[in-house]
Amino acid sequence: MKNRILLIIFFLSSAIFLRAGEGMWLPQLLKALNEGEMQTMGMKLTAEQIYSVNQGSLKDAIVHFGGFCTSELISDQGLLLTNHHCGYGQIQSHTTLEKNYLKNGFWAKNFQEELSNPGLFVRFIVRIDDVTEAMLAGVNDQMTSKERQSQIDKNMAALKEKTKLGEFEELMIRPFYHGNQYFSFTTVTYNDVRLVGAPPESIGKFGADTDNWEWPRHTGDFSLFRIYAGPNNEPAEYSENNKPYTPKHFLPISLDGVEEGDFTLVFGFPGRTNQYLPGVAVEQLVETVNPARIAIRDAALKIIDAEMRKDEQTKIQYASKFARVANYWKKWIGENQGLIATNALGKKATLEKEFTKKLNSSLSLKDRYGDILPAFKEQYKLLEPYVLSTNYYNEIMGRNIEAMRIVSSLRRLTNAYEKNGNEGYESFKARLTGALDNFYKNYNPNIDQQVFARLTEMYGNADGAKEISASMQNYLTANGIRDYNELAEKVFANSIVLDKNKLLQVVNQNPEDAVKKIKSDPLFKMADKIGTVYREKIAGPYQEINGKIAGLQRRYMAGLMEAFPDRRFWPDANSTMRVTYGKVQGYNPRDGITYNPLTTLDGVIEKYQPGDYEFDVPGKLIELNAARDYGIYATADGKMPVCFLGSNHTTGGNSGSPAIDASGNLVGLNFDRVWEGTMSDINYDPSICRNIMVDARYILFIIDKYAGAGHLVKEMKLVHPRSNQSGSKASKKKMTKPLGGPKPQLQGNTKKQKVVPYRGGGR
Ligand code: ARG
Ligand code: ASP
Repeated sequence: MKNRILLIIFFLSSAIFLRAGEGMWLPQLLKALNEGEMQTMGMKLTAEQIYSVNQGSLKDAIVHFGGFCTSELISDQGLLLTNHHCGYGQIQSHTTLEKNYLKNGFWAKNFQEELSNPGLFVRFIVRIDDVTEAMLAGVNDQMTSKERQSQIDKNMAALKEKTKLGEFEELMIRPFYHGNQYFSFTTVTYNDVRLVGAPPESIGKFGADTDNWEWPRHTGDFSLFRIYAGPNNEPAEYSENNKPYTPKHFLPISLDGVEEGDFTLVFGFPGRTNQYLPGVAVEQLVETVNPARIAIRDAALKIIDAEMRKDEQTKIQYASKFARVANYWKKWIGENQGLIATNALGKKATLEKEFTKKLNSSLSLKDRYGDILPAFKEQYKLLEPYVLSTNYYNEIMGRNIEAMRIVSSLRRLTNAYEKNGNEGYESFKARLTGALDNFYKNYNPNIDQQVFARLTEMYGNADGAKEISASMQNYLTANGIRDYNELAEKVFANSIVLDKNKLLQVVNQNPEDAVKKIKSDPLFKMADKIGTVYREKIAGPYQEINGKIAGLQRRYMAGLMEAFPDRRFWPDANSTMRVTYGKVQGYNPRDGITYNPLTTLDGVIEKYQPGDYEFDVPGKLIELNAARDYGIYATADGKMPVCFLGSNHTTGGNSGSPAIDASGNLVGLNFDRVWEGTMSDINYDPSICRNIMVDARYILFIIDKYAGAGHLVKEMKLVHPRSNQSGSKASKKKMTKPLGGPKPQLQGNTKKQKVVPYRGGGR
């Protein structure tokens, strides 16, 4: 009773600060921080069922997919579910014009047909431990940031040395709360991960970039992989003899779906958030950084888009690259609008005022934290030209002119020669030539030349980044070039970088000659000149100021936590395992408009544009919909659900994360957020921040009814958590099924259709 009251008081006080739905929580701390609230919101699980070191728990079904997405186990034979856009690189790598898996989808009929993916890995988390004390031993506030880092590095080495690990286990140690706490993650990594299935893009990427980051959404953004293991279920390099992995836990899949207001939790590996930035930093992001990088990508994308629409080959070559560049371009636009619309700056100002008030009421606080806000202001002001230049440099020289990637490899090749002679040259060359095929397979020098012309011009005219723009203008003057088109023509006509065979010819000469030739290449020379200016004048101060800012941010974080002891703080995302929870919930994007949180297949048909590369729909899907032939996957009122919205706080890296219902079953697959709420990385706002999930029933329907890959559904465990008796709701549903098409068949094995209460371990 007393605990209850304390808990209520705790929530009342924390509610003032923490906005509902906000937070990406560490799974091992749920018991202490969140379990009560989660149960109040409807969760029937205990924290122990979500994270346990001693027995199978939900966390054993969740893996970090390739280090950039999340994926989860959905069968006792190592079957993995993730997003189509997470598996995109792999699907594309197996795609040719003849075997066009992007366009037509791919479904392995048996284990033998599953496709291996060199380089792809999935990582399990075995346990998480607080190692703050060991990591911060001997560290104090008088140290410079360098001294501090070197002590921390020493501590980390010592800790890794003395920690006992099981076979195949590795220890990863990460700072949390900007370096105020440290946790270690014991991990196990599997490297044989094969492609099992993917819908055609017209389902898996339906709506493409037009719909990306938007609601209402109708994308079946999923793909299937499988983990293979050695004879004892242990990690093993790819081998024909490997066997499907047997998991400690896998997620049952609910056929009952969700309704508005239902509890959901999303479990995964969110990449990066910056929730505790000072106002000055947010202001710089909104006014300087985002506009610059948006404009650069905007220019590059316009060129690529026009070319992709011209022919299929270019589309295949550039689809993945385009989507990658477009993704954050659009996110930053939404982020900026959202930060302004939710008055993020005003909120930061209020918080800073409150913080200052706290400092003024305590000598000790003031003494330790009083300098921080003014120092932030000073440092961000100093940072401004450097952060702008760095964004220009990275976006233009590092990212959007593709040939620069080869140039930077060539730079490393010449460096290797200069450092280690012929031997260094040959060893790096072996690595380089291996990567070339992949690059040139998808490279179109005509597109790159246009991008080059347009972006070097932007570089040369970069307002507020004088040193780098001067370096570009000087280059033109020094070489007697009148404008950027001429520059592009000259460089592209004469560089070896743009043609694989020319490049190989040079690289295969004896190292001395090769290095000479490379160094006289016009693109190489230009990149060198521009790069040297960046490295000499910008990179150093940029790093130094950022180092100072990181130190301030660490102390600011500590100061906030100390000044507001009632507040529950969650640590910014850092690509480690987190749990976030919320409800199925719509939102009002603008005055007078309310968004429903559920979409259906009828909406796909509404958006259908025959032949369009974003909104085409496969004929078979149209037929299935016309016949309302949804198998056992329809809603109670006979609709085919497609996507739904929730108030779970997610970010990049959460893609592929399972949306889990109150009893531990998979109900959806996270893949996106809504545009109005993309500023959730910086300023979460419960009124408009929503994550977007594919409904699990749509995934099953596509696998089974659309693709005819019912053998995969048979592997899974389908459950009806809402009904008490096995099949009661399902059979009712079947009887009231409206008309048409082939009779709905019961998929999977009937044993698996029973109500399976969550038991904290799938097997
Ligand atoms: N916006 C989602 C996320 O950040 C999906 C991206 C993939 N889709 C796309 N059309 N680019 O990753
Ligand atoms: N689409 C993102 C991802 O790939 C998720 C997000 O940013 O909401 O991880």
